[in-house]
Amino acid sequence: MRNKIVAGNWKMNNSNSETNKLLNELIGSRFPSEIRVIVCPSFTQLGLVHEKLQNTNIDVASQNMHFADQGAFTGEISAKMIKSSGILTTILGHSERRSLFNETDEILINKVETAITENIEVIFCVGEELNDRKSKNHFKFVQSQLENSIFLLPKESWLNIIIAYEPVWAIGTGETASPDQAQEMHLFIRNLISEKYDGALADSISILYGGSVKPNNAFEIFAKPDVDGGLVGGASLNAEDFVKIVNAF
Ligand code: PGA
Repeated sequence: MRNKIVAGNWKMNNSNSETNKLLNELIGSRFPSEIRVIVCPSFTQLGLVHEKLQNTNIDVASQNMHFADQGAFTGEISAKMIKSSGILTTILGHSERRSLFNETDEILINKVETAITENIEVIFCVGEELNDRKSKNHFKFVQSQLENSIFLLPKESWLNIIIAYEPVWAIGTGETASPDQAQEMHLFIRNLISEKYDGALADSISILYGGSVKPNNAFEIFAKPDVDGGLVGGASLNAEDFVKIVNAF
């Protein structure tokens, strides 16, 4: 059985006191025990959030990390730094990192390899732009993102991989992929993993959907057989909405 996961990507939002308030609301909420819940705060709040969630079943992940061990990389944060805040999971390859901070497939595979070496689990994001979807190039595009990054990994490394399919045109726009569009891409990705590695591995990998997941659409999206959860941006900043989304399974 694949893990069901709902991760909240808080992006660059919330002061420490706003985060404390959100955490208090989440800690006081009920989540189904079979769903893994993850929150992804900013770098400066990783330690604070980890500490506060220690005796709960909510996990914490970082939104990014650098590939180098240490050194002259002003403004960056390493795998070891993340681990020293108690964090063992990171998002990598989010479309905002790719488009706004020029993170290429080559940079991303370096990051993923560092994470794997450090035993950090990776939520690896892929997804096409609107133009690719309109020109019906979306499958090819996502395939090339995978082939140039995590498909370069040996099979053993996949123990620590979660995939998030996030069509860029649906992120923060209020527009979502339809449940059928999400299912179609998730199945496509799973079949690619099966062809590249094997069916058992493909069956074991959680593939999350991201892009304007809200309480009113989560149920239909999560009901699809190849959708194993969500990577939620905007709606994860509101405890009530986030809790509703987790409970939509
Ligand atoms: P959104 O963001 O839910 O606000 O669209 C999703 C994401 O970027 O992970």
